[in-house]
Amino acid sequence: MNSTELITKAAQEHNLIESELYQILTDSQIDDILFAAADRTRKKYVGDEVHLRALIEFTNICKNQCLYCGLQCQNKKIERYRLDPETIISLAQKAVQYGYKTIVLQGGEDPFFTADILVPILQKIKSFGLAITLSIGERSTEDYRAFKQAGADRFLLRIETTDKTLYEKYNPAMSFENRLRCLQDLKQLGYEVGTGILVGLPGQTMQSLAKDILFFKELNADMIGLGPFIPNPDTPLKNAPKPLLTPALKVMALTRLLLPDINIPATTAMETIEPNGRLRALQAGANVVMPNVTEGTARLNYALYPGKACAGEDPSHCRGCLTAKLAAIGRPVSTGYGFHKKKI
Ligand code: 5AD
Ligand code: FES
Repeated sequence: MNSTELITKAAQEHNLIESELYQILTDSQIDDILFAAADRTRKKYVGDEVHLRALIEFTNICKNQCLYCGLQCQNKKIERYRLDPETIISLAQKAVQYGYKTIVLQGGEDPFFTADILVPILQKIKSFGLAITLSIGERSTEDYRAFKQAGADRFLLRIETTDKTLYEKYNPAMSFENRLRCLQDLKQLGYEVGTGILVGLPGQTMQSLAKDILFFKELNADMIGLGPFIPNPDTPLKNAPKPLLTPALKVMALTRLLLPDINIPATTAMETIEPNGRLRALQAGANVVMPNVTEGTARLNYALYPGKACAGEDPSHCRGCLTAKLAAIGRPVSTGYGFHKKKI
């Protein structure tokens, strides 16, 4: 089959094998056909509404050394911060006032935030009527259970790449097996589970990206967040090639075709490497945006990669800006929680 036929098949059957994914990923003639098909599938399964998830980046302290990430412990160039529980709770309260229904608590793997510290924060935020997503990395099964009982609904933990050798090269001292254990735990505990990858890591192949998409399907993920890898000058991968948007959009569009009813964010990394990258993503399969509601210097210091979009703005500006931009492409802001509704 030619690539256009494969795209039609994927939109009907929501299934492709690795060689078919590879063919589409390596065919540069069909990008617009792929994006249009993903956009139609998004509309058919999850509608036009865009779910906004308010992101609080509550600590940039991290015990890990991921070679691509600006928060890795060996980076001495960033100013480290840790928001205190009252500040986190007050940011969540402000998010309610802006009209957000979900709060995403994201942070480095900061040993300070034990379950004993986090549980009361989650309980308080839950009392505001918000859905809670956690994005705090690898923890014990017991911790995941405690967070769930305290009110966490969803968890984001990107697999980053399913190529075990590449994963362990770029995440020294971490194990691919433990990453998988975490994702399985989260599924079993009843979280909505989000995973995802970086697209464009040095050494990553199109074959490997095809396998990543099949992994999302195999995991039966509820959300997939992915973006281009953006070299960070303060990390060992600083000399990696300039990031490209198209490969990330293609992986995202194929993910929409294979997992048609899940939530897929248009990510900040996409916006960072191309003005309106998020809007392009929303028209190629995405249905979620995660505006940052962190304030002040913390917002500037959560520097995963350079030039992060909206880092210098304030939360109220982003809320207005996004609503207007979404309206301009005919996409209303959802007033619901936007949980994953299974349709296939
Ligand atoms: N470029 C793009 N994304 C990055 N992340 C970490 N470092 C970078 C980078 N340099 C992503 C990882 C992580 C998420 C929170 O941010 O995929 O899971
Ligand atoms: Fe932040 Fe537009 S969304 S400035």
